[in-house]
Amino acid sequence: MRNIEVCFSPELIHLHDLQGKIVVVVDIFRATSTMIAALANGINEIMTFADLEACREMRGKGYLIAAERNGLKVENYDLGNSPVAFLKDDYSGQKLAMTTTNGTLAISKSSQADEILIGAFPNLSATVAYIQQQEKDVLVHCAGWKGRFNLEDSLYAGALVKSLESTHAADEDGALAMKSLFEKEGHQLSAYLSKASHAKRLQNHGIEADIDFCLTLDLYDLVAKVENEKVKPISF
Ligand code: MLT
Repeated sequence: MRNIEVCFSPELIHLHDLQGKIVVVVDIFRATSTMIAALANGINEIMTFADLEACREMRGKGYLIAAERNGLKVENYDLGNSPVAFLKDDYSGQKLAMTTTNGTLAISKSSQADEILIGAFPNLSATVAYIQQQEKDVLVHCAGWKGRFNLEDSLYAGALVKSLESTHAADEDGALAMKSLFEKEGHQLSAYLSKASHAKRLQNHGIEADIDFCLTLDLYDLVAKVENEKVKPISF
Protein backbone atom coordinates (compact mmCIF):
# COMPACT_ATOMS: atom_id res chain seq x y z
CA MET A 1 0.00 0.00 0.00
CA ARG A 2 1.35 3.43 -0.90
CA ASN A 3 0.37 6.67 0.89
CA ILE A 4 -1.50 9.81 -0.13
CA GLU A 5 -1.48 13.19 1.62
CA VAL A 6 -2.94 16.64 0.98
CA CYS A 7 -1.30 20.08 1.11
CA PHE A 8 -3.97 22.79 1.24
CA SER A 9 -1.91 25.76 0.03
CA PRO A 10 1.44 26.64 -1.61
CA GLU A 11 2.16 28.51 1.65
CA LEU A 12 2.27 25.11 3.44
CA ILE A 13 4.22 23.07 0.89
CA HIS A 14 7.51 23.54 2.81
CA LEU A 15 5.96 21.39 5.58
CA HIS A 16 5.74 18.40 3.21
CA ASP A 17 8.48 16.12 1.85
CA LEU A 18 8.11 15.91 -1.95
CA GLN A 19 11.07 13.64 -2.59
CA GLY A 20 10.20 10.47 -4.53
CA LYS A 21 6.52 11.42 -4.71
CA ILE A 22 4.00 12.12 -7.43
CA VAL A 23 2.63 15.61 -6.80
CA VAL A 24 -0.77 16.30 -8.32
CA VAL A 25 -1.22 20.08 -8.61
CA VAL A 26 -4.86 21.14 -8.62
CA ASP A 27 -6.54 24.48 -9.29
CA ILE A 28 -10.13 23.57 -10.16
CA PHE A 29 -11.33 27.18 -10.75
CA ARG A 30 -9.60 27.38 -13.22
CA ALA A 31 -5.88 27.02 -14.00
CA THR A 32 -5.46 23.22 -14.10
CA SER A 33 -8.90 22.77 -15.72
CA THR A 34 -7.79 25.21 -18.42
CA MET A 35 -4.52 23.34 -18.97
CA ILE A 36 -6.40 20.06 -19.52
CA ALA A 37 -8.88 21.74 -21.88
CA ALA A 38 -6.03 23.33 -23.84
CA LEU A 39 -4.05 20.09 -24.24
CA ALA A 40 -7.19 18.15 -25.15
CA ASN A 41 -8.00 20.71 -27.87
CA GLY A 42 -4.79 20.96 -29.80
CA ILE A 43 -2.27 22.89 -27.71
CA ASN A 44 1.02 20.94 -27.88
CA GLU A 45 2.70 22.19 -24.76
CA ILE A 46 2.20 24.70 -21.96
CA MET A 47 4.87 26.67 -20.12
CA THR A 48 3.72 28.05 -16.77
CA PHE A 49 4.98 31.18 -15.02
CA ALA A 50 4.39 32.75 -11.62
CA ASP A 51 5.52 36.10 -13.09
CA LEU A 52 3.56 38.23 -15.60
CA GLU A 53 6.59 39.72 -17.37
CA ALA A 54 8.35 36.38 -17.87
CA CYS A 55 5.15 35.03 -19.43
CA ARG A 56 4.70 38.06 -21.72
CA GLU A 57 8.22 37.59 -23.13
CA MET A 58 7.19 34.20 -24.51
CA ARG A 59 5.17 35.95 -27.23
CA GLY A 60 8.49 36.71 -28.92
CA LYS A 61 9.32 32.99 -28.87
CA GLY A 62 6.24 31.89 -30.79
CA TYR A 63 3.97 31.14 -27.84
CA LEU A 64 0.38 32.20 -27.35
CA ILE A 65 0.35 34.07 -24.04
CA ALA A 66 -2.39 33.84 -21.40
CA ALA A 67 -2.66 35.72 -18.10
CA GLU A 68 -5.23 36.01 -15.32
CA ARG A 69 -5.19 37.94 -12.06
CA ASN A 70 -8.03 37.98 -9.52
CA GLY A 71 -10.20 36.03 -11.94
CA LEU A 72 -9.83 38.52 -14.79
CA LYS A 73 -7.89 38.45 -18.07
CA VAL A 74 -4.82 40.71 -18.00
CA GLU A 75 -4.63 43.32 -20.78
CA ASN A 76 -2.38 42.79 -23.78
CA TYR A 77 -2.39 39.01 -23.52
CA ASP A 78 -3.92 36.72 -26.12
CA LEU A 79 -6.03 34.82 -23.60
CA GLY A 80 -7.17 34.87 -20.00
CA ASN A 81 -7.74 31.67 -18.01
CA SER A 82 -10.96 30.30 -19.46
CA PRO A 83 -11.08 26.56 -20.26
CA VAL A 84 -14.12 27.15 -22.49
CA ALA A 85 -12.01 29.39 -24.78
CA PHE A 86 -10.16 26.26 -25.95
CA LEU A 87 -13.40 24.55 -26.93
CA LYS A 88 -14.45 27.35 -29.24
CA ASP A 89 -11.40 28.03 -31.42
CA ASP A 90 -8.83 25.77 -33.11
CA TYR A 91 -5.40 25.95 -31.46
CA SER A 92 -3.96 22.88 -33.13
CA GLY A 93 -0.19 22.69 -33.01
CA GLN A 94 0.25 25.86 -31.01
CA LYS A 95 2.26 26.39 -27.82
CA LEU A 96 0.92 28.26 -24.78
CA ALA A 97 2.60 30.26 -22.02
CA MET A 98 0.36 31.02 -19.05
CA THR A 99 0.38 32.74 -15.66
CA THR A 100 -2.45 32.78 -13.11
CA THR A 101 -3.05 34.01 -9.57
CA ASN A 102 -2.48 30.69 -7.77
CA GLY A 103 -2.27 27.63 -10.06
CA THR A 104 0.99 28.42 -11.83
CA LEU A 105 2.58 29.40 -8.50
CA ALA A 106 1.66 25.98 -7.06
CA ILE A 107 3.39 24.30 -10.03
CA SER A 108 6.54 26.36 -9.51
CA LYS A 109 6.58 25.35 -5.82
CA SER A 110 6.34 21.61 -6.63
CA SER A 111 9.73 21.26 -8.30
CA GLN A 112 11.15 18.90 -5.63
CA ALA A 113 8.69 16.19 -6.64
CA ASP A 114 9.65 13.06 -8.57
CA GLU A 115 6.76 13.72 -10.95
CA ILE A 116 4.28 16.61 -11.29
CA LEU A 117 0.83 15.85 -12.72
CA ILE A 118 -1.95 18.31 -13.59
CA GLY A 119 -5.17 17.40 -11.77
CA ALA A 120 -8.72 18.42 -12.73
CA PHE A 121 -12.17 16.82 -12.68
CA PRO A 122 -12.32 16.51 -16.54
CA ASN A 123 -9.36 14.05 -16.40
CA LEU A 124 -9.76 12.51 -12.92
CA SER A 125 -10.03 8.84 -13.93
CA ALA A 126 -7.09 9.06 -16.36
CA THR A 127 -4.93 10.52 -13.58
CA VAL A 128 -6.03 7.76 -11.17
CA ALA A 129 -5.24 5.03 -13.74
CA TYR A 130 -1.75 6.44 -14.33
CA ILE A 131 -0.97 6.79 -10.60
CA GLN A 132 -2.08 3.21 -9.91
CA GLN A 133 0.54 2.00 -12.40
CA GLN A 134 3.34 3.79 -10.52
CA GLU A 135 4.81 2.50 -7.26
CA LYS A 136 4.96 5.95 -5.62
CA ASP A 137 3.39 7.91 -2.78
CA VAL A 138 1.17 10.83 -3.77
CA LEU A 139 0.78 14.40 -2.55
CA VAL A 140 -2.14 16.53 -3.71
CA HIS A 141 -0.99 20.18 -3.87
CA CYS A 142 -4.00 22.49 -3.72
CA ALA A 143 -3.42 25.95 -5.27
CA GLY A 144 -5.95 27.53 -2.87
CA TRP A 145 -6.59 31.26 -3.01
CA LYS A 146 -3.71 33.64 -2.19
CA GLY A 147 -2.28 31.24 0.39
CA ARG A 148 -5.62 30.27 1.90
CA PHE A 149 -7.61 27.02 1.87
CA ASN A 150 -10.24 26.73 -0.85
CA LEU A 151 -13.14 24.28 -1.11
CA GLU A 152 -12.96 23.19 -4.75
CA ASP A 153 -9.29 22.10 -4.78
CA SER A 154 -9.71 20.36 -1.43
CA LEU A 155 -12.80 18.48 -2.62
CA TYR A 156 -10.85 17.33 -5.70
CA ALA A 157 -8.20 16.06 -3.25
CA GLY A 158 -10.96 14.09 -1.53
CA ALA A 159 -12.07 12.65 -4.88
CA LEU A 160 -8.52 11.49 -5.61
CA VAL A 161 -8.05 10.00 -2.12
CA LYS A 162 -11.36 8.14 -2.52
CA SER A 163 -10.52 6.94 -6.05
CA LEU A 164 -7.10 5.64 -4.91
CA GLU A 165 -8.26 3.96 -1.67
CA SER A 166 -7.44 0.47 -2.97
CA THR A 167 -3.77 1.36 -3.58
CA HIS A 168 -2.99 4.41 -1.41
CA ALA A 169 -3.60 4.71 2.35
CA ALA A 170 -4.97 8.01 3.61
CA ASP A 171 -3.41 7.98 7.06
CA GLU A 172 -2.91 11.74 7.21
CA ASP A 173 -5.59 14.07 8.64
CA GLY A 174 -5.93 16.26 5.56
CA ALA A 175 -6.50 13.25 3.31
CA LEU A 176 -8.91 11.65 5.81
CA ALA A 177 -10.95 14.85 6.18
CA MET A 178 -11.25 15.46 2.45
CA LYS A 179 -12.17 11.84 1.75
CA SER A 180 -15.06 12.17 4.21
CA LEU A 181 -16.12 15.48 2.62
CA PHE A 182 -16.11 13.92 -0.88
CA GLU A 183 -18.06 10.89 0.36
CA LYS A 184 -20.68 13.31 1.72
CA GLU A 185 -20.78 15.95 -1.05
CA GLY A 186 -19.19 14.32 -4.11
CA HIS A 187 -22.56 13.35 -5.60
CA GLN A 188 -23.55 17.02 -5.90
CA LEU A 189 -20.37 18.84 -6.98
CA SER A 190 -22.11 21.77 -8.70
CA ALA A 191 -24.63 22.46 -5.95
CA TYR A 192 -22.04 22.16 -3.20
CA LEU A 193 -19.28 24.15 -4.89
CA SER A 194 -21.60 26.91 -6.02
CA LYS A 195 -21.08 28.14 -2.44
CA ALA A 196 -17.29 28.28 -2.86
CA SER A 197 -15.84 31.80 -2.57
CA HIS A 198 -14.04 31.70 -5.93
CA ALA A 199 -17.17 30.39 -7.69
CA LYS A 200 -18.96 33.47 -6.38
CA ARG A 201 -16.04 35.69 -7.45
CA LEU A 202 -16.25 34.28 -11.00
CA GLN A 203 -20.04 34.61 -11.06
CA ASN A 204 -19.65 38.27 -10.06
CA HIS A 205 -17.51 38.63 -13.19
CA GLY A 206 -20.29 36.98 -15.22
CA ILE A 207 -18.23 33.82 -15.67
CA GLU A 208 -20.63 30.81 -15.52
CA ALA A 209 -19.73 28.41 -18.36
CA ASP A 210 -16.21 27.91 -17.01
CA ILE A 211 -17.58 26.75 -13.65
CA ASP A 212 -19.76 24.08 -15.29
CA PHE A 213 -16.83 22.89 -17.41
CA CYS A 214 -14.47 22.71 -14.40
CA LEU A 215 -16.93 20.47 -12.51
CA THR A 216 -17.51 18.00 -15.36
CA LEU A 217 -16.07 14.55 -14.65
CA ASP A 218 -13.94 12.58 -17.10
CA LEU A 219 -14.38 14.49 -20.34
CA TYR A 220 -10.90 13.50 -21.47
CA ASP A 221 -8.78 10.35 -21.21
CA LEU A 222 -5.70 12.53 -20.83
CA VAL A 223 -2.82 12.57 -18.32
CA ALA A 224 -0.81 15.80 -18.22
CA LYS A 225 2.69 15.93 -16.74
CA VAL A 226 5.31 18.62 -16.24
CA GLU A 227 8.56 17.62 -17.94
CA ASN A 228 11.45 20.06 -18.40
CA GLU A 229 9.16 22.92 -17.28
CA LYS A 230 6.61 22.06 -19.98
CA VAL A 231 3.17 20.61 -19.38
CA LYS A 232 2.45 17.93 -21.97
CA PRO A 233 0.05 15.02 -22.41
CA ILE A 234 1.71 11.63 -21.74
CA SER A 235 0.78 8.13 -22.87
CA PHE A 236 1.25 5.18 -20.52
C1 MLT B 1 -5.88 30.83 -10.12
O1 MLT B 1 -4.78 30.56 -10.54
O2 MLT B 1 -6.04 31.25 -9.03
C2 MLT B 1 -7.15 30.61 -10.82
O3 MLT B 1 -6.96 29.83 -11.86
C3 MLT B 1 -7.89 31.87 -10.92
C4 MLT B 1 -8.90 31.96 -12.01
O4 MLT B 1 -8.70 31.48 -13.08
O5 MLT B 1 -9.95 32.53 -11.79
